[in-house]
Amino acid sequence: MEYKIAVVKGDGIGPEVVDSAIEILDLIGERYNHKFIYKEVLAGGAAYDAFGDPLPKETIEVCKKSHAVLLGSVGGNKWDNLPKDKRPERAILGLRKELGLFANLRPGMLFKALEDACPLKSEIVGEGFDILVVRELTGGIYFGESGIRETDNGPAAYDIETYSEMEVRRIAKIGFEMAMKRRKHLTSVDKSNVLESSRLWRRVVNEVAQDYPEVQVEHMYVDNAAMQVIRDPGQFDVLLTTNLFGDILSDEISMLTGSIGMLPSASLGQTSPGLFEPIHGSAPDIAGKGIANPIATILSAAMMLRFAFDLKEEADDIESAVNKVLDAGLRTADIRGKDEDFLTTQEMTEAIKKTI
Ligand code: IPM
Ligand code: MN
Repeated sequence: MEYKIAVVKGDGIGPEVVDSAIEILDLIGERYNHKFIYKEVLAGGAAYDAFGDPLPKETIEVCKKSHAVLLGSVGGNKWDNLPKDKRPERAILGLRKELGLFANLRPGMLFKALEDACPLKSEIVGEGFDILVVRELTGGIYFGESGIRETDNGPAAYDIETYSEMEVRRIAKIGFEMAMKRRKHLTSVDKSNVLESSRLWRRVVNEVAQDYPEVQVEHMYVDNAAMQVIRDPGQFDVLLTTNLFGDILSDEISMLTGSIGMLPSASLGQTSPGLFEPIHGSAPDIAGKGIANPIATILSAAMMLRFAFDLKEEADDIESAVNKVLDAGLRTADIRGKDEDFLTTQEMTEAIKKTI
């Protein structure tokens, strides 16, 4: 089979880690006789520098015509002072909206070999944890009406959180489908003791739950959820939540795994090509040094094989190779113990390739 992949390398360490993922994909392609055809396009700071626009039309068109999008990371302090519509983040938000990527899957699990990097005490971590954050990605406060209005107290800024039943229903369905494939437990996170939008959220989640009698459903306020993921992360299976709450909770959960450099993500729509990216940022401080951890992007490529192309065995091969190199004690700088040796981005990539 031939698969067309739009590649957005992005800013900072983006190009380095995406190159690693492409090497891995090429190896899988050879092994299983698939052809991955890459088309590189610009978005984020790199696109702003080249065209004065963080999300050029051509980028959107190429992404739409592909089977999947592989993205590094965008942004960096260099572009921090640009007006809102020129900032690199606009590229990510614009791609999500243009491609209709309403479902963001962010797995957060403890890699056994990295237990020591987890900041929680071992009696709290117990047997580890394996949480899938299902975050709504094209609605809520991120895309609601916003602006600045004059008031008696001077200018006041506002951002409105809105959720329609349709938006909640479609993301809830994804959450329940994922739960059915996992441990059949779903925790829906909201703030329905205060917010109207959360009350609608909870009502619709309960309606969708009727279609999934096997899934055990729980509702949790977001403040409590933020506390519970630290108190007892093992209690969660699927964690379903809004755009803003998901943004925050997924960073919190990523830290429990020891390094944000380990975690992949998938953003999926109804019919559009999915977008796959590491959850870490562009890390401008280490860009160009060749020491970034490529694992999150490599695992994002694995998610692409699994979710966009339905290539399960191929995805399993990558994931098990990553686990094996970690078990063998190989580490990049971000996940090594104090004063331990570490591999460069390229060395880690080679090690994973040899193990596949
Ligand atoms: C993320 C990022 C983005 C978000 C930013 C870059 C717009 O933090 O993917 O979590 O807030 O969604
Ligand atoms: Mn975020």
